[in-house]
Amino acid sequence: MIRTIALIAVAATATCVSVSALSQAPASGQTWLDSKQTPDTRAKAALAAMTLDEKLRLVFGYSDQALTDLAKVPEDIVSPELKGYVVSRLVKGSAGFVPGVPRLGIPDQTQTDASMGVRNSFIPSTALPSSLATAASFDPEVPRAGGRMIGAEARATRHNTLLAGGINLAREPRNGRNFEYAGEDPLLAGIMVGALIDGIQSNRLISTIKHFAVNDQESQRTTVDVTVSAEAMRQSDLLAFEIAIEQGKPGSVMCSYNLINGRWGCENDYLLNTVLKHDWGFKGFVMSDWGAVHSTAPAANNGLDQFTGFCCAADQPWFGPPAMKAALRSGAITPQRLDDMVERILWAMFRSGAVDDPVRAAPIDYAANAAVAQKAAEESLVLLKNDGALLPLRGVKSIAIIGGNADKGVMAGGGSSDVTPVGGAVMIDQHTFLPSPPLAALKQELPRARIDFDSGTDPASAAALAVKADVAVVFVTQHDSEGNDGSLELSGNQDALVDAVVRANPRTVVVVESGGAIFMPWAGQVPAILEAFYPGIRGGPAIARILTGKVNPSGHLPISFPASTEQLAHPQIAGLGPPFDTPTAVTYNEGAAVGYKWHDLKGYKPLWAFGHGLGYTRFALSDPTASPGDRGIKVSFSIRNTGRRAGRGVAQVYVAPADWRAAGWEAPRRLGAFAKAELKPGKSRRIELAVDPRLLATYEAARNNWRIKAGTYRLMVGEASDAPMQAAEITLAESAWSASEAMEP
Ligand code: BGC
Repeated sequence: MIRTIALIAVAATATCVSVSALSQAPASGQTWLDSKQTPDTRAKAALAAMTLDEKLRLVFGYSDQALTDLAKVPEDIVSPELKGYVVSRLVKGSAGFVPGVPRLGIPDQTQTDASMGVRNSFIPSTALPSSLATAASFDPEVPRAGGRMIGAEARATRHNTLLAGGINLAREPRNGRNFEYAGEDPLLAGIMVGALIDGIQSNRLISTIKHFAVNDQESQRTTVDVTVSAEAMRQSDLLAFEIAIEQGKPGSVMCSYNLINGRWGCENDYLLNTVLKHDWGFKGFVMSDWGAVHSTAPAANNGLDQFTGFCCAADQPWFGPPAMKAALRSGAITPQRLDDMVERILWAMFRSGAVDDPVRAAPIDYAANAAVAQKAAEESLVLLKNDGALLPLRGVKSIAIIGGNADKGVMAGGGSSDVTPVGGAVMIDQHTFLPSPPLAALKQELPRARIDFDSGTDPASAAALAVKADVAVVFVTQHDSEGNDGSLELSGNQDALVDAVVRANPRTVVVVESGGAIFMPWAGQVPAILEAFYPGIRGGPAIARILTGKVNPSGHLPISFPASTEQLAHPQIAGLGPPFDTPTAVTYNEGAAVGYKWHDLKGYKPLWAFGHGLGYTRFALSDPTASPGDRGIKVSFSIRNTGRRAGRGVAQVYVAPADWRAAGWEAPRRLGAFAKAELKPGKSRRIELAVDPRLLATYEAARNNWRIKAGTYRLMVGEASDAPMQAAEITLAESAWSASEAMEP
């Protein structure tokens, strides 16, 4: 099976679901309930039928804390009627709620976090691997299938607005939320997150891409002021959003906590009005992150459409009815702007199908959904090293399994994405583990082998177990969580543990469960390393099936693993240490040179390079050709499975101008396209891909243009950013086009 960039654009609107009786038979004059009308017509008609108070319901949402605390909010801010409505209809345990307008058939917006699974503290859900892991699949069908599954569970648990689609670039490798995002490259992240959103919205729901924008660290996340040029943003963080929005067409965009060039994310005219709504033509609505609003008129006029997550005593009701009415009275907000806010929200609701096909409680097939999560993990885990073909484990009589709580489960990340897993979370040292222990799964895969476990608490005792076994498998874990940046060093005694075990038994495999990159001081000694990220509810079986060879690994790194702190663009994280909410500034001088681009620019050799990943077969890439495409370039090449077993090869096309400085690029090369191809041994296939013109261009702020400089460009095809490459060349003429021109995926 071949996946190409050209195959990715499955329009969310293509899904056909029967509409409810409500929409088929609109009462006379209720044009907005006629599903044959366009979302534009319907939104305008519904808006025209609304009173001011009804409009104001849609722009002000409540967090689930409302259930307990809303009573304390003064009645002139939230009326008793509205309090009763919110409390009676909010889905308990979800993220939030925006009241609908029952008189007009406009449903409530029931919001849940959902990037890796529906998050509701009272309802169990299927946990996919982390978003970073699924990005490692290099196959958009993996997040798309995951999104379809998440959306179906959301629908069955009565959530219709999903806060799903995290896409901040891994600019800071220690960012505690990198596991919720899709890596360091704008093309890869854009395509993967776009596919997730497309899958979610195929269930006739709204998905919300987040956090807009350059919200790339957790330290002082609510006060940090990020200085970064427009050019750098458009070529890195914003390009990732732009591609994902084109691919996935989310109904909503969540603005971020931080400041960008001195302006709050949720009142940032440049980001919200100029880039998102004007240049990209985004017709949906901007919702705030929870607690990210700082004003009424400045926020509304600079592009925020909906204040979400209000509650309660400590929160300012910036978009509450009294504040909005006062702003309308004084002229600080015009009636036209309020109408635009409401129309955008209505448009997204009509377009998604959330109005025509209301969410209803329904049974969930958790076993089928777990299979989706398992497949995602099996496509995504990255075999980093396999010297002497130690893996897969075959004919092994005894195995020592050590550390990582591998007898209890697999690690998950913390924060608002933390899914309540089917089977119940296993809490260890306040960290969530999903009940999918690799130890049990390995015993099941290798019923004839003797398998012993040591917790790894004492390296000496672990080494004593390892020395007696044919093979030792050490599990190491690194906890990451929203709200805190992590460390690249493994916590506790884990490095010492690996060191002790590999000394005792050189046939040692290390399995890493981490949010993102870590240092591996033992990487030179250990012959086999599997990066499992946070592998989700079926992480145990996925790890076991890869270690034993039932599954041929095919994941490739969506991030670089730096070799040392000195290789980081920011050796110190701005704002790490002082109390939360300390005003902090960070300047992203590296501009768009994020991840491997930074490493290339500085000539650094990372520990593991972007795009790296091994399998149990080999692929050969050959005969690349390049020809002019639709403004961009068409590239084609052959991929052959030269090994002895079937597998899925990942081909990556890097583009490099002959003179990258003259071309104005931030770094010598960029990922221009990629594809994953499944091939039987000896089989080959020709693959043709398109390189998006924006990946050949630079952004010119003064003209609001993209420009490709005339010159020669090399297209290099390889299996990793540091792998041998086959190259073709093409000479391009100078071209430029407006950044507000729509790019159809
Ligand atoms: C997070 C968002 C999340 C929201 C609602 C915030 O703290 O930053 O990602 O969607 O909470 O749970």
